[in-house]
Amino acid sequence: MKEELTVKIIAYGIREDERPYLEEWAQDQGIEVRVVRELLDEQTADLAKGYDGAVVYQQKPYSGAILDRLAANGVTNLSLRNVGVDNVDADAVKRHGFKVTNVPAYSPAAIAEFTVTRLMQLLRRTPTFDREQALGDLRWAPDIADELNTMTVGIVATGRIGRAAMKIYQGFGAKVIAYDVYHNPELEKQGIYVDTLDDLYAQADVISLHAPATKDNEKMLNDAAFAKMKPGVWILNPARGALIDTDALIRALDSGQVAGAALDVYEDEVGIFNTDFGSFASIPDERLKNLMERDNVLVSPHIAFYTRTAVKNMVQYALNNNRDLIATGHAKNEVQF
Ligand code: COI
Repeated sequence: MKEELTVKIIAYGIREDERPYLEEWAQDQGIEVRVVRELLDEQTADLAKGYDGAVVYQQKPYSGAILDRLAANGVTNLSLRNVGVDNVDADAVKRHGFKVTNVPAYSPAAIAEFTVTRLMQLLRRTPTFDREQALGDLRWAPDIADELNTMTVGIVATGRIGRAAMKIYQGFGAKVIAYDVYHNPELEKQGIYVDTLDDLYAQADVISLHAPATKDNEKMLNDAAFAKMKPGVWILNPARGALIDTDALIRALDSGQVAGAALDVYEDEVGIFNTDFGSFASIPDERLKNLMERDNVLVSPHIAFYTRTAVKNMVQYALNNNRDLIATGHAKNEVQF
């Protein structure tokens, strides 16, 4: 018989698509999980009183004030259902001795598959053909396409997602090069790495970003970086909006230095993505709309991760982490701040 843990978890920001996976886990584990639809904020933090841990996912910051409030309610075991921890206030984590976990690998394939799908749409000019067809224009020219198998793809960061994307690019016959501060031994043996980002910029026809956001790589793709790239380069960002200086990207698209871009993330996405504004005109971000109106730019609202496999893993792995933190003080996916 399974030993019952007397732990109580509160889960914030639970969407309808997450709920069945949460309920399945709670029943299987015999653990009480309170479901809260609202995100964790300074007010909802008070709901955590009496619980042993909190499971969360939100793009809004986990600010110092929110973490102060959570700690005041006696909860310092915090398990994120996603991978990125860039929106967690590190000072507050240290101040209160929070134990924080993330889910580093809920489905690297989900993001990798989506990224390459978007690239293929760009290379084959499907946004233009789809738009023209809807207007009754079934001509070919001038929208002649390019083939991925003739190209060099530069992967920035060879973590799990970067490596999953790499395999797909290689499956298409592309040459793959990569840059990362940390070298994966397998890839090292294959001679995939270039020494510097500048080397990658100089050689790549496609740049595929898979790095987490840190204070060191903010706006790494800026005017200077775009100028070092091959004219007509394609940019893919399924990682973090902060990696790209949006104004610089717009300038590079206008000049043709960048042929096109697929952006699943955006600098100012918080409060905009995953919202229904009712019409294109009502989207309250002119820069974003500028990008969305271009055939050679594919914007998507941070959906690369959004598959059944990924959502199930995000919910259940985060709950496992939170249970382990509560029961033992440690969990597999503890993040050091
Ligand atoms: C992450 O896991 O950090 C992501 O970026 C996906 C998120 C939208 C759930």
